[in-house]
Amino acid sequence: MGFLRNTELFGNLGVLFFIAANIYYPAKMILKYYLPDNIELKNFLNNYLQAHIMFNMLGLWCILIHGHFVDERNVILRIGVFFAFFMMVMGGVMYYRRSKDLERAPIIHSIQQMVFLVWIVVVIAGHGML
Ligand code: HEM
Repeated sequence: MGFLRNTELFGNLGVLFFIAANIYYPAKMILKYYLPDNIELKNFLNNYLQAHIMFNMLGLWCILIHGHFVDERNVILRIGVFFAFFMMVMGGVMYYRRSKDLERAPIIHSIQQMVFLVWIVVVIAGHGML
């Protein structure tokens, strides 16, 4: 299992998975603005949601391995990992509500969007401080 110690590999894989997972967010905002009533688009975004979930989980595993074996760390990056976990839980709640056909909870959705933007800043700043 020595390959797990290749922290650079897992850091880079994490970034790639997170990008693949979360371009869902700007893509959805842009497409909804320009094509609000397009049914095909709605179907596409529903399918993309599955990719959003899968790639975020894979990304999370990668950054956990990356952060566990890496030599340097700081409190800002730990906060970053906490945010990633937090978003995973919130995502799970949103998905659960959706699949149970419960009313959408806009507050959770808004918090998720805000934490997401803060998280990007935290991860970049944390790495800059190493
Ligand atoms: C680190 C992990 C995660 C991050 C960074 C993340 C990020 C986000 C962001 C930024 C949004 C808002 C997108 C928008 O405005 O439409 C979102 C929405 C959502 N996420 Fe995630 N998410 C993560 C994990 C998950 C997981 C694990 C699940 C499900 C098990 C999930 C399910 C959802 C759902 C259902 C929505 C609402 C989609 C909609 O109503 O269109 N997310 N997520």
